[in-house]
Amino acid sequence: MFAKKEIIDILKDNSQNRELFAHADMVRKENVGDAIHLRGLIEFSNICRCSCKYCGLQMANKKLERYRLSPDNIISCAKDAVDAGYKTIVLQSGEDIFYSKNVMCKIISEIKSMDIALTLSIGERSLEDYKEFRDFGADRYLLRIETTDANLYKKMHPNMDFKNRLKCLYNIKNLGYETGCGSLIGLPGQSIESIANDILFFKELDADMIGIGPFIVHPDTPLKDAENGNFTLALKAMAITRIMLKNINIPATTAMETLNPNGRIIALQSGANVIMPNVTTLECRKKYEIYPGKITPDKDIQKHRNCLEEKLKSIGRTISKEHGFRRQ
Ligand code: 5AD
Repeated sequence: MFAKKEIIDILKDNSQNRELFAHADMVRKENVGDAIHLRGLIEFSNICRCSCKYCGLQMANKKLERYRLSPDNIISCAKDAVDAGYKTIVLQSGEDIFYSKNVMCKIISEIKSMDIALTLSIGERSLEDYKEFRDFGADRYLLRIETTDANLYKKMHPNMDFKNRLKCLYNIKNLGYETGCGSLIGLPGQSIESIANDILFFKELDADMIGIGPFIVHPDTPLKDAENGNFTLALKAMAITRIMLKNINIPATTAMETLNPNGRIIALQSGANVIMPNVTTLECRKKYEIYPGKITPDKDIQKHRNCLEEKLKSIGRTISKEHGFRRQ
């Protein structure tokens, strides 16, 4: 367990990176083993009411071709993923209110009948919505805090409220969801100290899943002239998170792979134990452009999974056959 000062020192000093990554890899092996959990990610709508400055899906981006999958279409994507062996389905979208509480509950109950774990990642909703989704069988919820620096949060998220984000996260946690959080590394104006605070926040929340990725500049956003986040710094924040939270699930994020062609494998050898392959219908995958150059598989679900399995085998890892809840 590191104190804040130690986290800051580790983040600032690059001379011990190799030892840090090896230590995180060992903690990962001891606490969650060698099997990787694959989560089938369905990005079912890129329509969003938010204006997060870094994100390509923001409402003001008129260049993005928008799409919205029908409930039947979403359910059929899920079925294909389950047939290909996925044990977890993740439903992710922009904050699209077309998917009302009732529409979501119908989708949730259909997918839950397939004997898989279901994760939602659809942004801020009311306590009542979160409660219904849970009652209908949703097991997990992902909602990144993005940054715990309240001032930076305000700058990055016009029209949003940091306090409400926190409230949503604690509502999710209190309803008994496995709770996923996470942050962006390298937002303009972000300090190393605030990254240390992010990690301490994950510990305080006792998050069950943490996704950390570098910020990647999108040309059609207000941050178009900013610089990309740093791959190594994101990797270090992830490694420290593994060492501090031990048995949680940590994805090797797609943003890491976007900045480094071998990024996800490196992440899996530095503390990560999860991959979230895209299982959305091929036509839609390219349109979920949160940031440019996002790695999306161009193969069908089964072929892509087979390729991954080979790659994972080559680093001594297997694919888990379990639902992949947090280990006790
Ligand atoms: N670069 C990297 N990650 C981004 N996200 C959104 N925009 C970007 C970007 N430009 C991340 C956010 C969000 C997740 C789904 O994608 O952290 O929570």
